Amino acid sequence: MIDATALIGKPPGAILDWAGARYRAFRPTLSDMLMVLRRRAQIVTPKDAQFLLYLAGIGPGALVAEAGAGSGALTTVLAFAVGPAGAVVSFDRREEFLDVARRNVHAAGLADRVTFRVRDVGAEGIDLTGQDAIVLDLPEPWAVLASAKQALTSGGRIATYTPTYNQLERTVREMRTLGLEEVRSVELLERTLHVGDGGTRPEFDMLGHTGFLTGARKVD
Ligand SMILES: C[S@@+](CC[C@H](N)C(=O)[O-])C[C@H]1O[C@@H](n2cnc3c(N)ncnc32)[C@H](O)[C@@H]1O
Repeated sequence: MIDATALIGKPPGAILDWAGARYRAFRPTLSDMLMVLRRRAQIVTPKDAQFLLYLAGIGPGALVAEAGAGSGALTTVLAFAVGPAGAVVSFDRREEFLDVARRNVHAAGLADRVTFRVRDVGAEGIDLTGQDAIVLDLPEPWAVLASAKQALTSGGRIATYTPTYNQLERTVREMRTLGLEEVRSVELLERTLHVGDGGTRPEFDMLGHTGFLTGARKVD
């Protein structure tokens, strides 16, 4: 615990000495916010979260629905991207996950633009209309696609995150059955580089697998 009152009114980078340790204080960026998230469910990694934004066409002012909320990592990224003029509705069927997600989004200072709702969107669907984008990170996205399509405006986009090929295949099959267009799936591989003077090379270890990303568009 740090008493940060001495920092009030100080510029970013101000130094705080507390209990024998020295700290520097900055305004948190999105990456700072994501680094300190409490985790309950497995979270979407930054590389995937950013590309989901791209696939879903999400930017300032967008109306976005998301399921499931999980730990709220993706919710935080979505809330940051839509800005103060946008809005995110985040569904999860488990209240305990919504609590963690709510706390994380609140700690990031983005709670004003997010509504959390307990709902099994597989069984009950997404009961919204006029959404610019829908983002799905849950085990059975195909069960949500019909209501996700209804919730979208014409030209709106859906993006899904699926960890296995089986989930990916079933999701894309359902997207095609529903007549969604511009269906596209990708996997992003991230490799950290070790940069040394005259010895620059990839790190030996690499995150081998996270998930597959799919984007699609509703066209009336
Ligand atoms: C992998 S976690 C999502 C992680 C989240 N994207 C993040 O970055 O923190 C999947 C979540 O989907 C929720 N879920 C699974 N099936 C669902 C359904 N049918 N309706 C609503 N939520 C569901 C689970 O309770 C879980 O919290």
